[in-house]
Amino acid sequence: MKGVVFVALAEMIQGKYGHRTWNEIIEKSQVESAGVYTAAETYKDEEALQLLAVISEKLSARSDEVLSIFGIFLIKYFKKKYPQFFETNNFPDFLCSIDNIVHVEIKKLAPDSIPPKVLATIIDSNHITVVYFSKRKLCYLAKGLIKGASHIYGVNAEVEQTKCMHNGHEHCEFLIKIK
Ligand code: HEM
Repeated sequence: MKGVVFVALAEMIQGKYGHRTWNEIIEKSQVESAGVYTAAETYKDEEALQLLAVISEKLSARSDEVLSIFGIFLIKYFKKKYPQFFETNNFPDFLCSIDNIVHVEIKKLAPDSIPPKVLATIIDSNHITVVYFSKRKLCYLAKGLIKGASHIYGVNAEVEQTKCMHNGHEHCEFLIKIK
């Protein structure tokens, strides 16, 4: 996973709970990098899972909840770092741009990145489906990213997961209802 994701995670935890808590999380998780993250580097996916386990334990929260909250933070972080990908006019078109524009450009900028499949389909003016596929199975992160994107576009959206790889489906799927 690209370092930018780890840098954002560090920023979220440090901002909400302080540097000391982040240092304790790094120490306890015993990650190979010792918590020294830079955006352009790539780190083992395993490190993200190790950090997630320690963060959930420390905050007494479920790891899926931590991932979704982080997703909301991460998309705002992406907006600061890559504003060019947020020029799409509206929320449905933004979601449709992820697979064939955003993640494609990310792959060009960082050839060693492995962005997931995020296929959005506009059903009607109030409903969108998003299919998510990745060997990392981070659907809760995807859910948070979608929710965070709705905030960025000033849209009130309910994000319901209708299929999940963790329950044996081939991919995860979300139904987004715009209210
Ligand atoms: C709602 C929209 C988006 C969704 C649902 C989404 C979903 C995801 C998820 C779940 C991951 C984690 C890796 C995985 O699952 O395999 C990921 C990775 C990533 N995404 Fe997206 N994403 C979205 C928008 C964006 C945007 C706007 C950017 C950049 C501006 C971006 C850049 C990246 C990068 C850099 C990675 C790391 C890839 C790697 O480490 O190999 N994503 N995306």
